[in-house]
Amino acid sequence: MTSTLLTNIGELVTNDLSLGDGSRLGLLCDAALVVENGCVAWVGSAKSAPAADERVDVSGQAVIPGFVDSHTHLVFAGDRSAEFAARMAGERYTGGGIATTVAATRAASDDELRALARARVTDMTSSGTTTFEAKSGYGLTVADESRILRISREFTDETTFLGAHAVPPEFAGDRAGYVRLVTGAMLDACGPLARWIDVFCDDGAFDEDETRTVLRAGIAAGLMPRLHGNQLGFSAGARLAVEFGAASVDHCTHLADADVAALAGSGTVATLLPTADFGMRSPYPDARRLIDAGVAVALATDCNPGTSYVTSMPFVIALAVRETGMTPAEALQAATAGGARALGRSDVGSLAAGARADLVVLDAPSHVHLAYRPGSALVLQVWKDGVPL
Ligand code: NIG
Ligand code: FE
Repeated sequence: MTSTLLTNIGELVTNDLSLGDGSRLGLLCDAALVVENGCVAWVGSAKSAPAADERVDVSGQAVIPGFVDSHTHLVFAGDRSAEFAARMAGERYTGGGIATTVAATRAASDDELRALARARVTDMTSSGTTTFEAKSGYGLTVADESRILRISREFTDETTFLGAHAVPPEFAGDRAGYVRLVTGAMLDACGPLARWIDVFCDDGAFDEDETRTVLRAGIAAGLMPRLHGNQLGFSAGARLAVEFGAASVDHCTHLADADVAALAGSGTVATLLPTADFGMRSPYPDARRLIDAGVAVALATDCNPGTSYVTSMPFVIALAVRETGMTPAEALQAATAGGARALGRSDVGSLAAGARADLVVLDAPSHVHLAYRPGSALVLQVWKDGVPL
């Protein structure tokens, strides 16, 4: 077993309040860390670093935890750029385009879907993401939902069954029949391939009763709940997420005061997806209001072909800082420790001793540059499980 000393770190973001300057990011200047067995074995001042078998000098650059992207729709086929162009010309997003992606995804072979997912994962990794979630939801048949999850599992353990993403065309006149399929044969096939159950609970998507039915069935099958909610309107999503003890409710663009109060008193994370609001040309969520109320907040890409064909967490951070009222420190924390919390994970999202050695060396002296220099390639090196990729 070899140990590696990563040293001459100008600014180290640990996300551990007991370390560093007492700020939320647990910042250490002139720092070092030791990696052993894929984990962080020691963190502290470079001057007092212990000896290690190997030594890597990062020349005064900043080091941050790898990004935890807790919301992606990784596996899909087809192109919806024309829908995006129409929206930028004034058309409204309704979710109706999901059917276009469903048709293209059903028509694609496993190898095609795998290659498309792999290319997205390569993009995500090269922009600093080291842990990510992946949902089904573009198959909407037993066979297609389960193969999407099977392919997703080739890339991540954090898989989510989202059969309740849309009612497919063949069930257009029979919503109840589709909910029965999702909670019956589809759940039987997909449950063993997923950790999480998700529902698109929103205006024009699944209503409160349908959402309850799907969440109950998913939980009974051993899955943990998370929700899409409050993206298109003041839906029941946030309220139901709290009621069901969901790890996260995602989007949170339209929240009533009662939703904010409920989230603040709960263990449910509000995951903001500002690149989806960007892609829908809709108002941005108010992160300031949530953080000031004491709600735990995460940031994620929502990588999908309809609203947010985005793989870059640095872009999400820049947008969140500019448009949702977050400070650069809050946004970075939401994109790392926040994402980890939204996935119920304590092993990633921080760089305290014992955490997984998933980290990013920035081509910048401080984390602030992520929001300050949007569009620049600031990810110099990505380490996963203690190994540079
Ligand atoms: O998270 N809100 C639902 N699902 C996706 C978009 C789906 C699509 O348009 O393809 C989202 O924004
Ligand atoms: Fe989504």
